[in-house]
Amino acid sequence: MQSPQSTQSNLSPLVPAYDSILELAPYQTGKPVEELTREYGISDVVKLASNENPRGCSPHVTLAVTEQLGQLSRYPDGNGYYLKQALADFNDVNADQITLGNGSDDLLDILARSFAGADDTIVYSQYAFIIYPMLAKMQGATAIEVPAHRFGHDLKAMSQAVQDSPSTKMVFIANPNNPTGTQLERKALREFVASVPSSVLVVLDEAYIEYSPESNNRALLEDFNNVVIVRTFSKAYGLAGLRVGYALSSVPVADLLNRIRQPFNVSRVALAAAAAALTDQDFIEKTRVTNDEQMRWLEKQFDALGLGFVKSHANFIMVEVKFEMEDTTAAMIHQALLEQGVIVRPLSAYGLPNWLRITVGLAEDNLRLIDTLRSILTED
Ligand SMILES: Cc1ncc(COP(=O)(O)O)c(C=O)c1O
Repeated sequence: MQSPQSTQSNLSPLVPAYDSILELAPYQTGKPVEELTREYGISDVVKLASNENPRGCSPHVTLAVTEQLGQLSRYPDGNGYYLKQALADFNDVNADQITLGNGSDDLLDILARSFAGADDTIVYSQYAFIIYPMLAKMQGATAIEVPAHRFGHDLKAMSQAVQDSPSTKMVFIANPNNPTGTQLERKALREFVASVPSSVLVVLDEAYIEYSPESNNRALLEDFNNVVIVRTFSKAYGLAGLRVGYALSSVPVADLLNRIRQPFNVSRVALAAAAAALTDQDFIEKTRVTNDEQMRWLEKQFDALGLGFVKSHANFIMVEVKFEMEDTTAAMIHQALLEQGVIVRPLSAYGLPNWLRITVGLAEDNLRLIDTLRSILTED
């Protein structure tokens, strides 16, 4: 990977729009299974690195996708009429309050491009989803990272940061948060939104909402025009490979976002798949139950191994692998797991070098993880 300096000299005499773009490093994704197989020659890889649904997706999706295969030469419906109608019914909003995205990352990007420029400030929490500071850099905006409280968002301090910085245009909040799995209380969130000026857009990223229905803050849209809720079909719905997300907002905000997005940002296969996935709420319920059972099992295993973890409200858990007396590091454990075909996520990019984020898998995946981890930790 090139350092920012070498990128700069290679670019010369071209200059990017903002200096802060040179500080960006490409987003580190979870290692794809194919890459591990290629690098280490391991065929039975378990990927617990990207918070995907280990149960796959609803069978309703397979049928809907198959139906689209004869239509691939045709552009998708640029307005996503049917998916928006289905989402409007599901979320009890009007279709003109919805913006569709190529995954929720696309929507976060559209939001930043629509609202934050070089003279503006974006506020977010320490240990919040790493895309938020990246978006600030892409826009040349000032980024204010507010220290976390017990790994979660400190909403009082964030409110203070907004008040202290009159150039604040946007606040990003992930609830539940990735990578910490922390959750915010509804009342505290409502008080936070009420405390910031109505000219500040509060973006609530609810990527993991299906795992934590009590984190659903859609009701805020009824009282605050400056709230946007961003959701995705990549996690519990199991459609990460198709790329579909949506934003719920006031009508004027949705109107603006729809001007900025690419005309065909969601493919016809993805539109059909998402609408079909939404009809199968049994699948979501079973996903939640399996995740809860497996999360409790993993917590017990981490306790037995003497590893600390942060209580999570999503489909992943952050585990501390720090040993006072030994020089074993989380990076070494991550590497040792990789070499035995288990992919998890190291968190040094988040300033959490002693922690690993582990996606909750199926029972057999989790057993393999724990057995491998135990053998690594007890090695001489
Ligand atoms: C909090 C959060 N928001 C948004 C996303 C983006 O997901 P996608 O672009 O697949 O919808 C992720 C993915 O990891 C996430 O953890």
